[in-house]
Amino acid sequence: MDKIFEPLQSGPLSYSNRIVMAPMTRARAGEDRVPNEMMMEYYNIRSNAGLIITEATHISEQGIGWSQTPGIHTKEQVEGWKKITDAVHLSGGRIFLQLWHTGRASHSSFNGMQPVSSSPVAKADDDPVFTDEGKKAPEVPRALSVDEIKKTVDDYRHASECAFQAGFDGVEIHAANGYLIDQFLRDGVNQRDDQYGGSIENRLRFLLEVLEAVKSVWAPQRIGVRFSPTNPFNSMSDSDPRALFTAAAKALNSHDLAYLHLLEARPGVDHQMAADDAPYIAPDIRKVFNGLLMLNAGYSYETGNRAIEEGEADLIAYGVPFLANPDLVQRFATKSPLNEPDQSTFYTHGEQGYLDYPMFEVAEA
Ligand SMILES: Cc1cc2nc3c(=O)[nH]c(=O)nc-3n(C[C@H](O)[C@H](O)[C@H](O)COP(=O)(O)O)c2cc1C
Repeated sequence: MDKIFEPLQSGPLSYSNRIVMAPMTRARAGEDRVPNEMMMEYYNIRSNAGLIITEATHISEQGIGWSQTPGIHTKEQVEGWKKITDAVHLSGGRIFLQLWHTGRASHSSFNGMQPVSSSPVAKADDDPVFTDEGKKAPEVPRALSVDEIKKTVDDYRHASECAFQAGFDGVEIHAANGYLIDQFLRDGVNQRDDQYGGSIENRLRFLLEVLEAVKSVWAPQRIGVRFSPTNPFNSMSDSDPRALFTAAAKALNSHDLAYLHLLEARPGVDHQMAADDAPYIAPDIRKVFNGLLMLNAGYSYETGNRAIEEGEADLIAYGVPFLANPDLVQRFATKSPLNEPDQSTFYTHGEQGYLDYPMFEVAEA
């Protein structure tokens, strides 16, 4: 058996294989942003994954930054997610919720609030926000005050409690892809001169405070953290990503987490979430991080299995391959061809491109 299919026991979590469904925003939660039947079916038929990580899920009203994404801060949202976790568990799956605050990647049209960030630095003009009224030009955010940072950390705690009540197996802190936590980490945005900006130690402070808040609800072995050290998405950059993210990985060592998840395409892999000239940092992080390492972006069955066989990773997360193939694990196991993804329906609102990707047996029948 190829190693990617081997089960993995880690603290209280047992993964049936090392093939993880990467978090993917699909914008199917409707205008009320409450998880629904359509989403239940979408996740349930992907329970073959060793672990499902849900789409990014906003922790508060202020955290919203995309049309029709689900939240995890109201009673209705907890009830909606509970049906999904129950279905996945009945099918033998495991599911983590991704905790999300979009920061400056939000827009005032969502809720009348000016977006917030570490610093008043906007995304690039040609990098739009997906609002309920279509794509809109980004706005200049307001820098959070220290009191507001504490309040935001408390919103993470509240959302963690809601995720606990909703029956998840754990949570992933979204510290990637240019959203709020990443806006504190990377100095292309963070220009603060207080205890949350400047040195790497200071830029890590918000993440570590969020982690403590999440740990007040969840055992650390049920918490993952996601970084995207060099992903330019959301107009992001950092002057020294290698120094920043190896320091971040070291800072996480004492917390005994479920895993560290890196979105970082390997050299030579052409990927839209990788800048051509970006350094490749995963091997440095592997050296300094004590816990399980999950790698993502651009992996095939073969390259994912090889990365595990060669000790570069413990788990591999698949995004678009899982989006287009609900039965991805079975397809890998039987070396079956994969469905082609339809980019035009990645973020649309109906069942099309969401519930209609065929299973392999159905496609063949
Ligand atoms: C439609 C779509 C939505 C995504 N939404 C999220 C998200 O909500 N949270 C996140 O951390 N990454 C998100 N990503 C990034 C994926 O998790 C993953 O990193 C990316 O697809 C690269 O992996 P792949 O090459 O296996 O597809 C999204 C990607 C896609 C294609």
